[in-house]
Amino acid sequence: MADDSQNRDTMTPRHVGIIMDGNGRWAAARHKPRGFGHKAGVDAVRKAVRAASELGISHLTLYAFSSENWSRPQREVRDLLGLMKLFITRDLAELCANGVRIRIIGSRTDLSPDILGLMETAEFRSRDNSVLNLNIAFNYGGRDEIRRAFARLAAEFAQKGRDPGTITEADICGALDTGGQPDPDLLIRTSGEMRLSNFMLWQSAYSELVFLPCMWPDFDKSWMEQAIEEYASRTRRFGGVEDAKDIAL
Ligand code: IPE
Ligand code: IPE
Ligand code: MG
Repeated sequence: MADDSQNRDTMTPRHVGIIMDGNGRWAAARHKPRGFGHKAGVDAVRKAVRAASELGISHLTLYAFSSENWSRPQREVRDLLGLMKLFITRDLAELCANGVRIRIIGSRTDLSPDILGLMETAEFRSRDNSVLNLNIAFNYGGRDEIRRAFARLAAEFAQKGRDPGTITEADICGALDTGGQPDPDLLIRTSGEMRLSNFMLWQSAYSELVFLPCMWPDFDKSWMEQAIEEYASRTRRFGGVEDAKDIAL
């Protein structure tokens, strides 16, 4: 993967991943059904996408629906799928006009033809855009993504007669849904929960984690700026030492 870290402003994360959490609690606090919170969450998605472009972030990954979220009540799952379809239908033209390239990451197995069709249209119509790379993690689980990558690599290795012992980390990175994209520098989770919930397990090896107290529907540019400020105050070592030249041998 190309590394241009020498030439860029290291205060701004290149890739931000967001676990958009807290829609249900936001709605409950207003004595409303959970679906009301999910609907309000879509407006926060729009704000996050706009803020990412304005702040010079080149890759944004939004966790919209996990492979485990199918276990929610049928009615809620239906609401969430409906909102995903509505978002693509309503926002695709504007996203394209603003230079956003959309990719949907996650498993496509067993998704209904209407949602699959919309996803493919969004990816196809936005394929030449480059202001912001937006990944929407839908029917996504980090373990499932790694499993699918392994299955793909195993088939490829068998077909080419390659020795499985020669598999590299780059092979695995390339076989993930995010193949070719930089790892997230910053992972944000709203709602105060402090866990990854199966989000970007491989890619987050050295991501900085920022947990925000706000519920997802309240997220806006100022929360994004706050998370980036926190990110900029961190020292990333990647297993090394902060300033190797200062260390007496
Ligand atoms: C995030 O909000 C949306 C999805 C997971 C799809 P939640 O629905 O998880 O809201 P809480 O965590 O119950 O408040
Ligand atoms: C993670 O949130 C999934 C998404 C944001 C899409 P959850 O609300 O599903 O996670 P848990 O159940 O609290 O770990
Ligand atoms: Mg939640």
